[in-house]
Amino acid sequence: MEKWENVLIKDYIRKMKGASELIVNYKELNSMKKLISGYIRIFKVLLNINSTTSMKTRFITNMGIIIMISGVLNSFSGGTGSKKINASDGRMDKEEAKIILTPKPGPEPRINGTKIFGVRPGSPFLFTIAATGDKPMKYEVLNIPGDLVCDSNTGRISGVIKKSGEYLTTIRVSNKSGAAERQFKIVCGDRLALTPPMGWNSWYVWENRITDSIMRASAAAMVSSGMIDHGYMYVNIDDCWAIKPGSKDSSLVGDPRDKNGMVNSNKRFPDMRSLTDYIHSLGLKAGIYTSPGPTTCAGHIGAYKYEEKDIKRFTEWGFDFLKYDWCNYWKIAGKDNKSVEAFQKPYILISKILREQNRDIILNLCQGGDGDVWKWGKEVGGQSWRTAVDLGASFEGIGKALFRDGFDFYTNNQLQNYGGPGGWNDPDYLLFGYLSNWKGQTVPTSLTPNEQYTQISLWSLQAAPLIFSGDITRLDEFTLSLLTNDEIIEVNQDPLGKPGWRVTKQNGIEVWKRLLEDGSIAVGLFNRGEKEISITASWSDLGITGKQKVRDIWRQKDLGSFKGKFSSTVGRHGVVMVRIWDVNKVHR
Ligand code: GLA
Repeated sequence: MEKWENVLIKDYIRKMKGASELIVNYKELNSMKKLISGYIRIFKVLLNINSTTSMKTRFITNMGIIIMISGVLNSFSGGTGSKKINASDGRMDKEEAKIILTPKPGPEPRINGTKIFGVRPGSPFLFTIAATGDKPMKYEVLNIPGDLVCDSNTGRISGVIKKSGEYLTTIRVSNKSGAAERQFKIVCGDRLALTPPMGWNSWYVWENRITDSIMRASAAAMVSSGMIDHGYMYVNIDDCWAIKPGSKDSSLVGDPRDKNGMVNSNKRFPDMRSLTDYIHSLGLKAGIYTSPGPTTCAGHIGAYKYEEKDIKRFTEWGFDFLKYDWCNYWKIAGKDNKSVEAFQKPYILISKILREQNRDIILNLCQGGDGDVWKWGKEVGGQSWRTAVDLGASFEGIGKALFRDGFDFYTNNQLQNYGGPGGWNDPDYLLFGYLSNWKGQTVPTSLTPNEQYTQISLWSLQAAPLIFSGDITRLDEFTLSLLTNDEIIEVNQDPLGKPGWRVTKQNGIEVWKRLLEDGSIAVGLFNRGEKEISITASWSDLGITGKQKVRDIWRQKDLGSFKGKFSSTVGRHGVVMVRIWDVNKVHR
């Protein structure tokens, strides 16, 4: 009969061979450790009794093999602290602690969000001053243009500016702990979205289950969570608010349009105007979705042949944002028609109609990046354009898509050359918190905590819209901390509007840089590898020289002055974000 210890070892060797499948978990590693300590105990006994030398030797060899295997397996798991390895999508997921880096806002006022805001002459103006600090607070706008008013209790600026021009104002927010002031430029002209839009979208958490009451609860949560105080503004319904022809669900069927051809919402949205009134009453803006095709991606009625009427309807309803999703428009354009003209056509039409409205509705092009949309998205009137396909199309694959589209697709297409004030690359939504698993449930994101830091850091460096699409009514502290770091948001919303780019890539290590308006640079040290590693950003790679002040912007802590380079340890799939000022040139 085979010796029991040999059977065990063979069993582990078998597993070791199957290690490519990475079917190792914490429990197994634990039992491996128990086994080794069991061996040591037995060996101690053997030493004390009459065992032969060959028994002792065999024992030592077996133990050595076990220790070796254990070491290999442990290295797959990234060392101590790992709990789970899963290679279902070809990458390794590890449960990491959700470490909160964002400091809690202090009691004194701090003004956040965009410093520059575009509006068209004659359009209703709505902008809510974003500021943290103990409430009640008093909000003022010094040099406010004559046609606008600022509600001193809520910070809501409203009215209508009739005359084009640049209005340089100063926002002042005060409370019992102090006061803060910051310049705020209102640009009245033909450009909107002078910094990337910030908000929430219903798709990845609610997909086809979205309702009026969820939208209201989500808008209310943007206020109660405090996200509004960090600059979040848009509350956007995605697909599935319109009638779905042929649906078996009675809440989705009915006449797609009224007798005048005006589009109807389905029963889940009994009164769109009252919904947007509610969203606006909170100081927020409202977004809607449709397709140039006869139906949307999820099979609801689209705008084809009713473009003018539908936009008129959205204007009456009071929407401020339109996501226009190509989807079934292929039926009109022709499946094989890959000409840029064909890709542009529906967007040229819709943006012309949008410009004719007496309301500012920003346009988000959504068509998966076809025809290199980044090259002409702005030209056809888009304020943002999706650069690639859906990041969260497969729940398990979000991390893989993030790395693929976030880092490589962006760099391969040099997307930094196309985004800027008035038109932004949109690599899709922030996938944190609770998301739909596409099986009818909402479950925690498949991104590890480090990957979540990576996503929002990269989005900030790339000047991508910060649109969260997890459950905003169910924010845990960690998720909220990711979304509300004002120094990270400040990078994203930098008024220069110059997207960052990858400066170096070596193995799994990447260094990214973004130029900021005050002459400083934001730098991301990214670790795409499987193990914690030290990453160095050298001044020569960053294009800077001399003594530089370095600040860790997630932790919001100055790290001191550095010469020649800056290094930091970065966890698996994680990031360290710093902001760097030349001590001799620019001071904050
Ligand atoms: C497409 C879009 C998504 C979402 C869905 C809705 O897949 O890319 O962002 O809007 O359609 O059906």
